[in-house]
Amino acid sequence: MVPIKLNLMTKSIGDKKTKTAIFISGTGSNLENLIRFSFSQKSPILIKIIITDNKKARGLKFSKKNNIKKKIFNFSKKKSAETKILKILNDERIKLICLAGFMKILSKKFINNFKGKILNIHPSLLPKYKGLNTHKRAIENNEKYSGCTVHLVNSRLDSGKIILQKKVKIFKKDTAKDLQKRILKQEHLLYPKAIRKLLTNL
Ligand code: GAR
Repeated sequence: MVPIKLNLMTKSIGDKKTKTAIFISGTGSNLENLIRFSFSQKSPILIKIIITDNKKARGLKFSKKNNIKKKIFNFSKKKSAETKILKILNDERIKLICLAGFMKILSKKFINNFKGKILNIHPSLLPKYKGLNTHKRAIENNEKYSGCTVHLVNSRLDSGKIILQKKVKIFKKDTAKDLQKRILKQEHLLYPKAIRKLLTNL
């Protein structure tokens, strides 16, 4: 496999870790999981800031709990929100952005500022089921499998280079909620692995 060449800091000790921002909109179970991962000695990332478009995002509680800075932005004024976010990311020397249940679409301009440095986790086996309601759609289409994907973000929705995927079986009796729960468990295993793969080519 051809290694992904990125100009990212990849050493995994002390302040040599890759300074990372996590973007969330809701519950934040992936955020919590990535925080736990970042605390492990071998983690290549240091989470410097949590960014959200939703002041009521439940995941924001992990900011205080773990002493990680948080910033809330109003995406109804998307251009101005993105300009402010870019300034903060620059001030914090952020080199990697992980979208973790972030439900806003970032502009091409924003993405170009972090080309090859924005990861997203999506609850389907991309390129199948881009967008919303992935579990419901997979069940309605009688799919035997769904799963989750970590991919780089480009300017087309859920279409960037795939870093890792995990298949999850769909059982006959599954509701969308059942499937969502089982896939979320796999997301928590997949995201750290994908980050490690991106940053260290392991
Ligand atoms: C996760 O299932 C994630 O894959 C999905 O939102 C959920 C967030 O859960 N992301 C998307 O649908 C992005 N298009 P969490 O807030 O508990 O991490």
